[in-house]
Amino acid sequence: MSGNPLSSFRPHQRAFSRRDFLRLGAGTAAFSLAGVEALNASVYESVDRLCREWPDQDSPDGVFWEALREHYLFEDGLVMMNNGTVGPMPEPVFNTLMSFFHLQCTAPCEFYNTFGTRREEVRAKVARFVGADPGEIVLTRNTTEGLNFVANGLDLEPGDEVLMSDQEHPGGINPWRLKAARYGITVREVPIGVPPRSVDEIVDAFESAITPKTKVIMVSQTVYITGLIAPVKELAEMAHRHGVLLLADSAHGPGMLKLNLRDSGVDFWAGSPYKWMGAPCGAGILYVRREVQDRLWPTIASSGWDTAQDARRFETMGQRADPLIFALGEAVDFQARVGRERIQRRIQTLATHLKEGLTEIPGVRVHTSMDPYLSSGLTAFSAEGVDPEVVENYLRERYNLEVRTIGNEERGTRGVRVSTHVFVFQEHVDMVLEGLRAVMA
Ligand SMILES: Cc1ncc(COP(=O)(O)O)c(C=O)c1O
Repeated sequence: MSGNPLSSFRPHQRAFSRRDFLRLGAGTAAFSLAGVEALNASVYESVDRLCREWPDQDSPDGVFWEALREHYLFEDGLVMMNNGTVGPMPEPVFNTLMSFFHLQCTAPCEFYNTFGTRREEVRAKVARFVGADPGEIVLTRNTTEGLNFVANGLDLEPGDEVLMSDQEHPGGINPWRLKAARYGITVREVPIGVPPRSVDEIVDAFESAITPKTKVIMVSQTVYITGLIAPVKELAEMAHRHGVLLLADSAHGPGMLKLNLRDSGVDFWAGSPYKWMGAPCGAGILYVRREVQDRLWPTIASSGWDTAQDARRFETMGQRADPLIFALGEAVDFQARVGRERIQRRIQTLATHLKEGLTEIPGVRVHTSMDPYLSSGLTAFSAEGVDPEVVENYLRERYNLEVRTIGNEERGTRGVRVSTHVFVFQEHVDMVLEGLRAVMA
């Protein structure tokens, strides 16, 4: 990789000088598709070697995870434990992103003549990644867009009801509030616990709220305030028994959870792969189950909205930032090379270590379920008598470690949220625990 300007391009480490700029400019061949392919191949070679050498290593920390972290471009010493907002791209994704913007500059016609084919390649990869058919995948810009496409595109009558949990994100709540203001539908909240005690408790809460007017249930598969992983399969099964559609907001799901959307039975599912999956911001995924596609109108229309036979008709958006989509394809490849199961196990192992540590500190309340079926990489907690912001600031100042505050007082969810992704080590989790003990002392 040495000698390639992309591999050493770390604009955040220091001011970007004119000399740097010239050095980078002189090597723009490195941005070529071939240059980037070679660069990425060397990253993948090293990942493959690691996987061969450490076939079973999930934890504790060690060579595998340390070497993997090297393929992220963090500034020195940054401990990134907030994936929920925006996560980092690993090196190959960044390289691919840059190479396609470069192609737009150097050979715009090659860029636009090939992007249709390339987009379809990415759709197929994404479909495999989430366990769906390519004809069920809409390449959106983010979760909010996907959720709006669903709320906007369904025919509902005044008085029809949409149920949602009391822990939804504004990007999920507001599309339905807008529909309520415009068309007179009713939106009702269903309280779920902090944390809920079981799958049945969650399913029963929704089932008992269903009325003859209920048409849709919307629930976060990955609840951003508490870290709950909602049992969407069980919810979909129950909803369908009542003739109700299930929409899952999985903003954090791609890259955190092993997904099989066909098997889950959800009707609609929206995700933001730039949080946990390493894609760039501006690349999103919407799944529309084939069997319900005829019930959804496109929100944006250009050629194809009325002729495309599958979910592609929800994506006739005109020109867009295709390099983001191609980089999303690279993010799928990176995840596959490391191993989906391995990633998921590692995330869980770190989260369990964190939760076990938290339960040992008197005065700490864990808002996330201890059940691995109902939790994954997001862990939220509060500490008696300590403002969450104090914890957040202490961890940043003491360890250069990023977490975030979340939730609200009235609903009993105000606290600190910690993400435990593959570039985090057990020692970083211990820093969170040590820091928390220090501010509580
Ligand atoms: C559960 C949930 N839904 C929706 C969103 C909105 O995501 P985006 O900004 O990618 O549309 C977020 C963002 O954090 C989220 O946590």
